[in-house]
Amino acid sequence: MSERAIELEVLRYHPEKDQAPHFQRYSISCPEEWVVLDALNHVKERVDPTLSYRWSCHMAVCGSCGMMINGEPKLACKSFLRDYAGVIRVEPLAHFPIERDLVTVPDDFIAKLANGLADDLLSALCLARECPLIVAPAMNRQMWDNPATRRNIERLLRDGVAILGPASGDQACGEVGMGRMLEAREIAEAVTAFLAPKTLRDEATIESLQPLCWAGWIASATAQVAWTGARTRNESQARMTPATMQASAPPASAQSSRPQRMA
Ligand code: FES
Repeated sequence: MSERAIELEVLRYHPEKDQAPHFQRYSISCPEEWVVLDALNHVKERVDPTLSYRWSCHMAVCGSCGMMINGEPKLACKSFLRDYAGVIRVEPLAHFPIERDLVTVPDDFIAKLANGLADDLLSALCLARECPLIVAPAMNRQMWDNPATRRNIERLLRDGVAILGPASGDQACGEVGMGRMLEAREIAEAVTAFLAPKTLRDEATIESLQPLCWAGWIASATAQVAWTGARTRNESQARMTPATMQASAPPASAQSSRPQRMA
């Protein structure tokens, strides 16, 4: 496995002690086969444990490792070092407040959804849709408990949006409580259950809901993820009601405390 010396220029920002974001350069040697996320993990484990960023699945599924790489929004777990020459500049996703280093806080997304705002691509896609929407929120426990957040969640439920989670447990900000994002596997299970054929009460059929696309933003003091996906027409003749979709229960584990990969 050939090694290569790389220069990572990573945006650092600790709001409690930094007046402004700044870049920090790390010179490391890595296998060519690594992705940017591997390099960040190497820095975190071997060079600078204070570096904060977020990842979960390492397989381009959860979206939690989204960041700007050389000025473009990318998944760090899918961006191979061999595709970059020279210094690799890594920054948090653009247009979001920085929680810490590469961790951003798109915590206004649920509020946007609840109020029908469409001032970016994701919120516009959510508004201009003819399919069910699933949201898996995650945020600091005080944010989750805030009446404004609860109001927004209730409004989304009334609007027919399915809510997955959040779970309760340790949060990287040091708090413990409700607000953790479900694990990627749990979200995948819940979405699979959501899409499974169901026999329901009224006449709304799943055909009227296809193609189904889903999108979500996770906002957290320490965590965020955006994901989108699509599913083509389901052959099932099963019937589905909006009411049941709203009531799609999160996995039982949503109420449990589980470790979440977060750097
Ligand atoms: S860690 Fe990259 S998409 Fe999940």
